[in-house]
Amino acid sequence: MIAVTGATGQLGRLVIANLLKRVPASEIIAAVRAPSKAADLAAQGVQVREADYGKSASLVKAFSGATRLLLISSPSADNRFADHKAVIDAARKAGVPLLAYTSVLRADTSTLLVAPDHLATEQYLAASGIAWVFLRHPSYIENYTASLGSAIEHGAIAGSASDARNSAVPRADLAEAAAVVLTTPGRDGKIYELGADVAFTMTEFAAEVSKQSGKKVVYNNLPQKAYQAMLESVGLPARLAYRIADSDVKAASHDELYTASRDLSGLMGRPTTTLAAAVAAALPQ
Ligand SMILES: NC(=O)c1ccc[n+]([C@@H]2O[C@H](COP(=O)([O-])OP(=O)(O)OC[C@H]3O[C@@H](n4cnc5c(N)ncnc54)[C@H](OP(=O)(O)O)[C@@H]3O)[C@@H](O)[C@H]2O)c1
Repeated sequence: MIAVTGATGQLGRLVIANLLKRVPASEIIAAVRAPSKAADLAAQGVQVREADYGKSASLVKAFSGATRLLLISSPSADNRFADHKAVIDAARKAGVPLLAYTSVLRADTSTLLVAPDHLATEQYLAASGIAWVFLRHPSYIENYTASLGSAIEHGAIAGSASDARNSAVPRADLAEAAAVVLTTPGRDGKIYELGADVAFTMTEFAAEVSKQSGKKVVYNNLPQKAYQAMLESVGLPARLAYRIADSDVKAASHDELYTASRDLSGLMGRPTTTLAAAVAAALPQ
């Protein structure tokens, strides 16, 4: 039995869809905060179980019988490590032999603001006695393609990444890789640095959008504070705006959003989704 936390989330749903191609639905546990949101998965024969990070008892019950567990990192910026600790403790109580965790690129050295929670989780998991796999994620390319409509409308994309290389890929690639890891042997103790085969800069991203949309779109590089203010002006909370701008600056100064690793295409047995394909899939009709 393979259990997946956050299975009603964007990545979680894609992982379940990939698992359904590989194992019978009855061998999959969708471990979710709100089972009512997973009625469609239950209808396909997936076992839907309540697994709220804030309710330890629900986690132990949800993981019972699981031989592999994917912990999809919590979206909570304030409670992330506590949520992960609750999942790892429950997995140990439930006797889960192997836990795969969605971490961040080079969690052990990364200067990104999210890195300390990921590193703490990796270390806690490694010390737990449960066999582990770290799936270290790059940026989701949807972070950039989600706002193509407004980029095309304004003819500009803003950021503070300068000419940093970015190994972003669609969630779908990362979900496919996770499904491979969860359904094939020999993964214990492996650290996968996952990213695109071909990285891009934001200038290249804007050029691809221009090419496909037929409208000139440029990349405007802004100082960190100006980019943060721009994000706030379009409605982002100040804290989130700060974190996004900081991540761009760290990409430019420390290459934090880039990896030369080919682990992702290696796991999938195919090239990663190209920038062109990701832009095409997201282009407003
Ligand atoms: N690499 C990147 O670029 C990037 C970007 C954003 C986030 N992330 C990280 O990657 C994770 C997955 O991304 P995503 O896009 O799939 O996020 P998402 O769509 O927001 O999904 C998050 C999932 O976590 C569940 N969840 C939230 N609080 C919970 C709780 N207390 N107990 C149990 N489940 C809880 C949500 O349940 P509900 O469906 O009930 O809300 C949802 O299923 C995020 O959580 C975040 O840690 C990475």
